[in-house]
Amino acid sequence: MNILVVGSGGREHALCWGIAKSPLCRRLVCTPGNAGISRIAECAAIHADDINGIVGLARRERFDLVVVGPEAPLVAGLVDRLKAEGIKAFGPTARAAELEGSKGFMKDLCARYGIPTAAYGRFDEPDAAKEYIHRHGAPIVVKADGLAAGKGVMVCRNENEAFAAIDHIMIEGAFGAAGNQVIIEDLLLGEEASFFALVHGTQVLPLASAQDHKPAFDGDHGPNTGGMGAYSPAPIVTPEMTEGILSRIVQPTVAALVTEGRPYTGVLYAGVMITRDGPKVLEFNVRFGDPECQPLIMRLKSDLLTALLACVDGRLNELALEWYDDAALVVVMATQGYPGPYAKGSVIRGLDRAGAIDNVTLFHAGTKTANGQVVADGGRVLGVGARGKTIADAQRLAYRAVDLVDWPEGFCRRDIGWRALGR
Ligand code: AMP
Ligand code: GLY
Repeated sequence: MNILVVGSGGREHALCWGIAKSPLCRRLVCTPGNAGISRIAECAAIHADDINGIVGLARRERFDLVVVGPEAPLVAGLVDRLKAEGIKAFGPTARAAELEGSKGFMKDLCARYGIPTAAYGRFDEPDAAKEYIHRHGAPIVVKADGLAAGKGVMVCRNENEAFAAIDHIMIEGAFGAAGNQVIIEDLLLGEEASFFALVHGTQVLPLASAQDHKPAFDGDHGPNTGGMGAYSPAPIVTPEMTEGILSRIVQPTVAALVTEGRPYTGVLYAGVMITRDGPKVLEFNVRFGDPECQPLIMRLKSDLLTALLACVDGRLNELALEWYDDAALVVVMATQGYPGPYAKGSVIRGLDRAGAIDNVTLFHAGTKTANGQVVADGGRVLGVGARGKTIADAQRLAYRAVDLVDWPEGFCRRDIGWRALGR
C-alpha cells in the first residue's frame, strides 16, 4: 500500500517508524516531514496546514491511506476533503474534531451527557468573564476556546492573574480568533494521565496508557510546554482505572458524538485528572499526543498499519492489540528558550552514536538537514526513546543516549519518569 503521513513532529516520526515496519507498506511519504523522517520515508515539501496541497498530492499519487498527525488540518476539514475525493483517511472529520477545536463545544457536550469534568462557565465578553472569576474566586483555570498550540490554558493562583489572563486572551488577542470566547473552570487536583483509544463510531479499542511531563523544567517547574517527555505504561492507570475512564468518559463521549451526528473516527486522546472523586476529563484531543505517541508506538508489538486500517474501516471489534511488556520512556530535547523565543540553525552532533545503542530509538521533531548536517529547526527538536524491563531501566538507557547527543544549544529535563519511579 501507498501511505501518506501528514505532519513534521516526533509524533509523525514515530508513526512513520511504525508504518515503515509494516509488511503492508510499499511506499511511505510524509508531508512535510523532518531530517529524521527523511531517512525512512520520502518527504514532500507541503505544509501540514496546506489542505489544498495535501489533497492534490493524495489525488495525484493515489495514496491508499492518509494518516493525519496534527490537530489543525483535522479541525480545518482535511479528512472531509480527502473522503470527498474517495481517499481513505485516518482521523476525524471537522465536525467530530470540534471536540478539540472548541473547548466550549467539548464542555457543553460533557455537561449535556453527564461526562465528568470540571465545572465551568463560557463567555464572549471580558467583563462577564471577570464577574464570574470574582464570584468564584481563585485558584481558577482560564482557557481560550479555540486552538492555541497548547498555550491557551492558564492556571491562575489568584484573581489578578485570572483577570490578566482574560485581558491577554480577549483584549490583547494573544491567540487571535481562538480567544473570542473563554472557558473558565474549577481547578482540579490530582495526577494527570493521557488515555488513548482507537475509535470508529461507538467501537472503542483502548491503547496502552502513558504519562506526559508538561512543565519545561525539572520538578515540574517553569512554563507549560507541548510535553517534555513521556513514558508508557503509566502505573496510575490501573486496569480498574482504565475501566472507569472507558465507561465514564470515553464510551459516553463517542456515543454522544454519534447521537449528535458527528461520529468519530481516529485516535481519541483524553487528558484526564485522576481526582479523589475518580477520573475527570481535562480536555479531549483528536490526535495522538506528542510525545506520548513515541513510547506508545515503541511498545506496540502488533502491526501499526493494520490497526490504523481497522480503525478507518470500522473493524476495531476484530482487532486485538499486542504490546511488549517492556516499559518505554522518551526524553524530549528542546532548543534553549523554548517554550519562549529560541534560535534556529544550531548543529546537532552525536545522533548516530546515541541511536546505535540497543533498544534506543531517536525520534526527530524540529530538525532539518543543512549542508549534510542535522540542525535544530524548532522548539522541541528530538525525542530520545528507550525500552527497558522497567521504567527505571528505560530511563537509565534514555539518559545514556541523551548524554551522547552533542548539542550545546539544547536542553532537556533530567527527571522524566519521576512519578512512576516514586510509586
Ligand atoms: P488542556 O490543554 O485543557 O489539557 O490544559 C493544559 C494543562 O493545563 C493540562 O494538562 C493541565 O495540566 C492544566 N489544566 C487544564 N485544566 C485544568 C483544570 N481544570 N484543573 C487543573 N489543571 C488544569
Ligand atoms: N503532549 C500533549 C499533547 O500532545 O497535547
